Parts: sequence; C-alpha cells; structure tokens
Amino acid sequence: MTNDGSEALRRAAAHAQRHLAGMDLRGVAPTVGGAALIERLGRALPERGTDAAAVVDELARAAEGGLMGSGTGRFFAWVIGGAVESSVAADWLVSAWDQNAALAVTSPFAAAVEEVVGGWLLELLDLPRDASFALTTGCQMAHATCLAAARGALLSGEDWDVEEDGLAGAPRLRVLTSAARHGSVDRAVRLLGLGRRAIEVVDGDDHGRLDAAALRAALDRGGPAVVVLAAGEINTGACDDFERLVPIAKERGAWVHVDGAFGLIARAGRSCAHLLEGVDGADSWASDAHKWLNVPFDCGLAFVRDRAAHRAAMTGGGAYVASSEEVRDQIDWNTEWSRRARAVPLYAALRELGREGVAAMLDRSCERAAALARGLGEIEGVEVLVEPVMNQFVFRAAGEGDLDRRTHELMERINASGEAYFSGTVWRGVRAIRVSVVNFRTSEDDVARTLAAVREAAS
Ligand SMILES: Cc1ncc(COP(=O)(O)O)c(C=O)c1O
Repeated sequence: MTNDGSEALRRAAAHAQRHLAGMDLRGVAPTVGGAALIERLGRALPERGTDAAAVVDELARAAEGGLMGSGTGRFFAWVIGGAVESSVAADWLVSAWDQNAALAVTSPFAAAVEEVVGGWLLELLDLPRDASFALTTGCQMAHATCLAAARGALLSGEDWDVEEDGLAGAPRLRVLTSAARHGSVDRAVRLLGLGRRAIEVVDGDDHGRLDAAALRAALDRGGPAVVVLAAGEINTGACDDFERLVPIAKERGAWVHVDGAFGLIARAGRSCAHLLEGVDGADSWASDAHKWLNVPFDCGLAFVRDRAAHRAAMTGGGAYVASSEEVRDQIDWNTEWSRRARAVPLYAALRELGREGVAAMLDRSCERAAALARGLGEIEGVEVLVEPVMNQFVFRAAGEGDLDRRTHELMERINASGEAYFSGTVWRGVRAIRVSVVNFRTSEDDVARTLAAVREAAS
C-alpha cells in the first residue's frame, strides 16, 4: 500500500484510457447481465483487506461486459450524454481533492469555482443575470429546489409561512402542466408534500405544448398556482410557446417553472435557440449539465429569479451563518448538506469548449439528429413519426401486422447488434423508438453506422 495511492491511480488511469479508446470497438449494449455481475463481484463481505491497486484491477475486470456504452456516439437511448475530456480528468481531481462543497470554509476553492460557473451558466443560457443558481444532483432535484422556492413564495403571498408552519392547513397549491410532462415533475411535487392531486393537466397539442386559451381558463379558476412548461419534450424536443404562455401565467400571479433538462441548453446553440424565445421570462428553470453539456454524472442545474425565495427554501437554517463574506455557502441554495464539488468538471468543460465550442457541439447534435431522421425515413419498413425540431425524435416499424410488436422487435435487434442503442417510448398511443442525440462524440460516421444497423435489422 502506498501513502499517495499512486499505483492505484496509475492503474485507474490505464483502465480508464483503455475503456475510452476501445469504445468504438466494443458493442454498445452490455453483454453480461446483473446476476452474473453480482456473482463476479462476490456476495460475501470481505473479511480481510486487499491491496488498493489490485482492487482497481479487480473492479475493471468485474466491469467487463457490464457497462452500457452510453459514452459512444451511437448511443441514443433515454437522454444521457457523454463527458468531454477535461471534465473527466477534472472529475478525477475532485475525487483526489475530496472536498466538501457545502460551505466556503470547508473548501474555498470549490465555493469559488461554483460561484464562477453559476455566473457563466446564466450568461451562456441567457437567463436573468441576477437569478440565483444551484448545482444539484440532477434535473429531478433541480425541480425540487425550484418548486420549493415557488411553494414558499406563492404561499407567502397567501400569508402562509411554509418554512415555519409546514403545509398542514395551508392554502392548496395548484400545479398546471402538460400531460406530456416528465415524471420527475410529479416526483418533485410529491417530495414537496403538494401531492399528486395538485397536478392539473392543461390541454395541449400532440407535442404536449400547452394551449394558451386552456391555460388562461385554468388559471382563471383561481388559487395560487405554478405553471410547469417544457423546454424540450422528451420524445419530440418540442418547446412550449414561452412568449405566449409566460405572460398569461404572470398576469394571473402564477409562478412559471421550466423543465429544460436538455432543451434549455439549446439556448446556448444557434440552430434551435429560437425555440426558446421568451423562456427567460419564467421564474425558475431546471436543467442538467450531465446531459447535453457533456459532463460526467452527476450535475443538475437550478436557477431561480427570486433569490430570496430560493434561499429561504434551501438555507441550512443558520447552523452555519455565512462562513465567508467573499463567496456563498452552497448549503444555502441546495437540498444537500455535505456534497461533491461538482462545479469543477463543469468549469473544465466550459473552459475546454468555450461559448463557441458549446454552440458548435449543440448544433452538431441537431444536425446529426436531422441526418438520422432523413436516413431512417429512406429505410423500407421504418417510419419517422415526428421530424426532429431539436435533438430528439421518434420512429417505428412501418408496414403490415402488429406494429407495436414489430417496433419492439426492431429495437431489440438493433440493440443486440451492438452497433447502436435506442430506448422505447409510447407516442400518440403507439410504441415507438426514441432517438436522443446529446453526445458530443456522435459523428457523421456514427450516423452512417447507425443507419446501416437499422437497415440490417429492418430487412
Ligand atoms: C425532460 C426531462 N426532465 C427531467 C429529467 C430528469 O433529469 P435527471 O435524470 O437529471 O434527474 C429528464 C431525464 O431524462 C428529462 O428528460
């Protein structure tokens, strides 16, 4: 055992490099299932210790075949994204430094990086520069953070202090949103004690975009309300009409929250930024850096216009009163107490790419999504159900017979080929295959290889 762990770190670097270098040679899908992996890892708690470097080798061996190739350019399932080079390396530093990013006093550097990154993000996404921010574990907790601020502010408007008195006996909050919303919105609403029944579905179009008249009518029924809009519907990438809807909600005193897990990021690009016109008029925004900004898991983003409401909802409650005059204590803006210095890999990625590089990466994703849709549309036995407006779209098997079953089988065959990987969805009541292009690695060659794999699977 070495004091500095250098042998273990060297081996980890070698394994990591081999993993990354071999990405295009391996199949995308895992080849070993959960039970076999558990067997490999050994079920019994070890009685005696093992040399650190040997542990690293053992882990790398155990992982073989059990990793999803979600870092490759031919992985299009869910919305996952890769990690640009400097962000991976910076993430290793974060582990080596092992800082607690709760307070400025526990890590002045982590606090400083987070403060700088927060400012950069507001600029990059062109949100109000005086909004507050939080780097969370993901968009799920970004929703929870933003909606906690909304809950406090709306109830305070009803002379109710939710931080002191809780929700028992409080005026009921309404959450108006689309039937196509992401499930993480519901979970945030449940976590905050508002209850699923607080959610009221407002009519919209096929893409889940809310209808302005329906929203107006719903708000006119009265009561404190949050309106949750989408910047990037999960199947189609469609965005709500912010320019139209935000003023309707604001005029009626509602809090507008935006789920922009991947779509909000498009604001930093050129080709799709127009879809997000007027999004900056909202009150809070939830997004992710670990998706389309291509940093390692995990890093979610929360932004809140009303800084005081954000802080009041999240503050550590004076257990540590402002540990520094110079930088903020993250504990006052997050759901967590102890936490990872997750701003560091994001700082690295933004530094590596610059504003130009981020825009180019996003535009490339949109181009590759369009190329995939074009190519898929030319394959016999395949139908593109909705053309991409951004980086997401859906397709399915076409022709005769049970198309739901055939779509599922088509996806299984593509995934089993190891050439590309997709996940399934239901769109307009039918089974479909979703395409999400969020990985900076997806190249023209990846598009060509993917189309060849689909052609083969469809024939
Ligand atoms: C639209 C949307 N909202 C929220 C989430 C949840 O994000 P996270 O997994 O980072 O919590 C996702 C995840 O894919 C998403 O696509």
